[in-house]
Amino acid sequence: VPVSRIRNFSIIAHIDHGKSTLADRLLQATGTVEDRKMKQQFLDNMELERERGITIKLQAARMLYKDQAGEEYVLNLIDTPGHVDFSYEVSRSLVACEGALLVVDASQGVEAQTLANVYLALEQNLEIIPVLNKIDLPGAEPERVIQEIEEVVGLDCSQAILASAKEGIGVPDILESIVHLVPPPRDTVKEPLRALIFDSYYDAYRGVIVYFRVMDGRVKKGDRVRLMASGKEYQIDELGVLSPHQIQVDELHAGEVGYFAAAIKAVEDARVGDTITLANSPAPEPLPGYTEAKPMVFCGLFPTDSDQYEDLREALEKLKLSDAALSYEPETSTAMGFGFRCGFLGLLHMEIVQERLEREYDLELITTAPSVIYRVTTTAGEIFEIDNPSQLPPATNREKIEEPYVAVEIITPEDYVGTLMDLCQTRRGIFKDMRYFAQNRTTLVYDLPLAEVVTDFFDQLKSRSRGYASMEYHFIGYREDALVKLDILVNGDQVDSLAMIVHRDKAYSVGRALVEKLKELIPRHQFKIPLQASIGTRIIASEHIPALRKDVLAKCYGGDISRKKKLLQKQAKGKKRMKSIGTVDVPQEAFMAVLRLE
Ligand code: GTP
Repeated sequence: VPVSRIRNFSIIAHIDHGKSTLADRLLQATGTVEDRKMKQQFLDNMELERERGITIKLQAARMLYKDQAGEEYVLNLIDTPGHVDFSYEVSRSLVACEGALLVVDASQGVEAQTLANVYLALEQNLEIIPVLNKIDLPGAEPERVIQEIEEVVGLDCSQAILASAKEGIGVPDILESIVHLVPPPRDTVKEPLRALIFDSYYDAYRGVIVYFRVMDGRVKKGDRVRLMASGKEYQIDELGVLSPHQIQVDELHAGEVGYFAAAIKAVEDARVGDTITLANSPAPEPLPGYTEAKPMVFCGLFPTDSDQYEDLREALEKLKLSDAALSYEPETSTAMGFGFRCGFLGLLHMEIVQERLEREYDLELITTAPSVIYRVTTTAGEIFEIDNPSQLPPATNREKIEEPYVAVEIITPEDYVGTLMDLCQTRRGIFKDMRYFAQNRTTLVYDLPLAEVVTDFFDQLKSRSRGYASMEYHFIGYREDALVKLDILVNGDQVDSLAMIVHRDKAYSVGRALVEKLKELIPRHQFKIPLQASIGTRIIASEHIPALRKDVLAKCYGGDISRKKKLLQKQAKGKKRMKSIGTVDVPQEAFMAVLRLE
């Protein structure tokens, strides 16, 4: 294919605004996937995505399209993941494109995540084509939303397309616009090979499958390639395009999008953002913008049954093959025994990994509350980073503690501005900006400690705004704060896995709330269990769980049998995830109690 006949684009959309539906329509309209296969296709993808950890992963599809003038084009759709945890992957997939469809639900409007991605696309100088989706809905107000896009994003909407992905309205216009508005790739076929990795996944038989866009030069099956960041070299066993199934080809040149397999053992060796070049005639410079995705959020993972420690280690090792951003190292806890301290890009990433470990590897785990990386300066002037509150040196040896801050941008209907500002305030937010934009919607900008954002902030935001507010955040740096370590004692034993780092001003209220919550969550035992919160040697809150006296069923007043059953089931379920700490059985929920204090 001549470079002039290639169009590479992605779709930027907020969750539920119709990205997948539109992508399916484009595949259908170009005959890439037959109509009657569509349903099956869709299901296959769902299955695959489920296997690969929900819709976080990028995919690509190549379509052949004959425009209204009868000219043939190759359209490459490069998908972007829809979650803030994966914004680096989004940025790399946008770099692989010359244009983007900005899909906005015409009955809703611009959301925070959409904005963040549009700005990324504008930074890359992509041609952006606004698409107002769901115009079939009675509540659709395309004119209002167009005005919003023009005002908020500053994007010219004179070429905006009114569409309904569901009904197929506007799809021909979208295809014509891609061909005529999105510029072709630069013709750099004669330059040394440089290809950008925008995604990869692990295949047990072929090794890592790398998805890439050739930026310059050409690559052939059998070529020996070098990954410029990792420095590793491989021979390409299989080269192909995604249509959307893998179809093998012999060669790909500048502007084209495809995949290769080269017996690469782990995705870590072929990271998103790395540049592929030829081993025997390498490009002088890699493509710009490579960074290694760094874990931001950490937690301990411990098997409920210590016999499963080896299984957990093996499972993490295997997961790591397909997840470069996951980090783990052994952790020994006095309370929990042997486990691993794991690092994640964010809370969603953490949940995905936990879920996969439990479902795919059949492990029963206790997860401790998430923590961030703190930077500690000792009185001796030494500086180091800790990802676990239990590693914090005693107060007498500390000069200062710094914590990561993020800039959070929230978009919300005006009605919820008050309650959301209140939320940010209680999370130690520093107010930065408030802007009204068209029609009853407001942007709030706060600087917040990352630690306050990873503990249930998103759920709070959603519930306080009845689901209408959206948010986006990015790391802005470390700041010093008056932080202290809060310890929890259960039955007189300090439980390292319940320790946390909190702001001094919040220590009392958090300590109090936490022991009260633990009192609810830890079941009664045959003996009385004291619960205490302390800072250093100072007890700041205490409670106790009274000893068990009567059969639990006595609570049911003898009546309803189904209620008894329910209670028994609930108990059986609760029993499943327990960790004995000394003589006290502590349920999984207790370790996450800090996330549910409000
Ligand atoms: P995520 O995969 O969660 O990011 O969502 P998405 O943006 O891919 O949205 P998806 O295509 O899954 O659509 C979300 C919902 O909107 C689905 O129930 C679709 O059937 C519906 N939908 C998509 N396009 C239209 C449309 O044009 N009109 C109407 N009425 N519904 C639509």
